[in-house]
Amino acid sequence: MTTQNLDTIARAMVAVGKGILAADESTGTIKKRLDAISVESTEESRRSYRDLLFSAAGAAEFISGVIMFDETIRQSSSDGTPFPELLNRQGILPGIKVDKSTKPLAGCPDEPITDGLDGLRERLAEYADLGARFTKWRGLLKIGDGMPSRTAIATNAHALARYAALSQEAGLVPIVEPEVLMEGPHTIDRCREAIEETLSVVFRELYLQRVRLEGMILKPSMVTAGSECPQQVTIAQAAEETVQTMRRHVPAAVPGITFLSGGQSEEVATEHLNAMNAVGPHPWQLSFSYGRALQQSALHAWRGKQENVQAAQAAYLHRARMNGLAQRGAYRPDLEKELAA
Ligand code: 13P
Repeated sequence: MTTQNLDTIARAMVAVGKGILAADESTGTIKKRLDAISVESTEESRRSYRDLLFSAAGAAEFISGVIMFDETIRQSSSDGTPFPELLNRQGILPGIKVDKSTKPLAGCPDEPITDGLDGLRERLAEYADLGARFTKWRGLLKIGDGMPSRTAIATNAHALARYAALSQEAGLVPIVEPEVLMEGPHTIDRCREAIEETLSVVFRELYLQRVRLEGMILKPSMVTAGSECPQQVTIAQAAEETVQTMRRHVPAAVPGITFLSGGQSEEVATEHLNAMNAVGPHPWQLSFSYGRALQQSALHAWRGKQENVQAAQAAYLHRARMNGLAQRGAYRPDLEKELAA
């Protein structure tokens, strides 16, 4: 794999009008999502749900790639087509989450550190064989009393860069995800400080570890007030502060920034992305790599019933379309009804 191939894949992941579906919930997280619709989490229910998303006809117009979980990349559609092939046939890039979730960080027991570097080179080679073209690793930072600590930021940034370098070595585009959690009573100023500090350390580590910026994607949190902060801010303010923060800390060589939704409602996540793109042009593409904000309506439309598959696919396609418009700065809330299936 040449560096040119990495760059080409990275650019395709942030093609204009498209973004990424994060369907890489771990077994524990997908169980929570299925519990919410009273569906038992089994290998088969998880497969059926992902099958519904991955086989939704027309998604490729708005979805450039899908991030899968280890179990999922080995599963197949109901007609026997392996999921990576199902996605490829539609022109959607198959991706894989390669971290092994978090453990408490030694010395900072209230803060998480992401596991999964041991044996990563071998696992990456296997994922490439299974058809993956890109990967994801999520570092998690909490805002609170003395948090995120310098220790947590430095340790997570180091792991993210080690992962990204190994991923590029394997010919797979890394999505570098330093998530600063939205949960908590913190103000937008605290959030911004935490994201600024984190991004500055992450890009220093990426440089030290020789990660090719043209061949990676950044997946950050947006700058917003904490979920329990009494002083909530407008969509326009969050968008403006997020854009300014990205301009300060993300080199123009990075082809794209795909935000996570982090617990924002579907429509708020779309509005934020739109507001950021409406004040472009920017040095990079600003797009989405949403989990909950692309799946919430679809999950609730499905409720585990075969007869609801079409309605669930329509709900997913609708969100994908709305976010595709937001990627171009062309979304309006009244389109929610106008373009609903
Ligand atoms: P959310 O958009 O639900 O935050 O999920 C994106 C993701 O991949 C988090 O790791």
